[in-house]
Amino acid sequence: MLKALAIAAVTALGLSGPAMAAGEGGHIEDVAFPHEGPFGAYDQFQLQRGLQVYTEVCSACHGLKYVAIRTLADEGGPGLPEDQVRAYAAELLPVFDDAIGEERPRTITDHFPATSGDGMGPDLSLMAKARAGFHGPFGTGLSQLVNGMGGPEYIHALLTSYTGEDQEQAGTLLHGNTAFPGGWISMAAPLSDGQVTYEDGTEATVDQMAMDIAAFLMWTAEPKMMDRKSVGLVAVLFLVLLSALLYVVNKRLWAPHKGKLPA
Ligand code: HEC
Repeated sequence: MLKALAIAAVTALGLSGPAMAAGEGGHIEDVAFPHEGPFGAYDQFQLQRGLQVYTEVCSACHGLKYVAIRTLADEGGPGLPEDQVRAYAAELLPVFDDAIGEERPRTITDHFPATSGDGMGPDLSLMAKARAGFHGPFGTGLSQLVNGMGGPEYIHALLTSYTGEDQEQAGTLLHGNTAFPGGWISMAAPLSDGQVTYEDGTEATVDQMAMDIAAFLMWTAEPKMMDRKSVGLVAVLFLVLLSALLYVVNKRLWAPHKGKLPA
């Protein structure tokens, strides 16, 4: 009985069982990211590699308009040196400055450019959260604490699930993709092996680049995840201590009255 209950509880929490494809969406494989789990933290070097993939590949069609450039220097994020961030900002598209009524070079206090127009994709700033739960392998719920939220898994799967088949529909070329809901996406496979050259020597396979950009986009959507986790941990530790203390106090208080027979 107890065992059955335990199994039911574990299953309900989604802690066991294979990765499943969710709902009407495509097929998503669960992959492990360093930022998952109650003690998980972003891998600074993975975020830097993800930034490189974004800059060299995805930024041609996707903006990151909610991301402030200066956060690239944040601890717990990519942690780039400030002079590097400054140089990076200057290379981005210029920004239109309302105050002076004309375009000027981007600085670290600006946001990443937004992209819009024909053939452009949606903004990616919050994509890892927008797609969490809908397409994630474990949906929402408590299991997210252990398995992550599924958004980066979706992005990784999307980038690695092209079938190589194309079809034209109403004048648009669609590409077969088993992770995309419906199975056909208008974004051509953006990655191919060796497309970027990583400075840290990591081999740039499609799978590796997909992992790195997925982790990076999780960070853009949830840059304070590590702060949140450490606050949570402190709160839990505090509660554990408080419980222990209350237990001892309770024992002490009642000790003189316990074990005595009523008069
Ligand atoms: C040549 C332009 C182009 C490039 C380069 C490109 N994309 Fe896209 N992307 C698109 C378009 C167009 C869509 C909309 C596709 C659709 O809805 O059919 C899209 C959609 C997406 C989506 C949303 C899918 C969904 O669930 O709606 C994600 C995530 C995405 N792209 C990630 C990336 C990443 C990561 C990169 C870089 C590795 C990248 N894209 C490179 C054009 C591009």
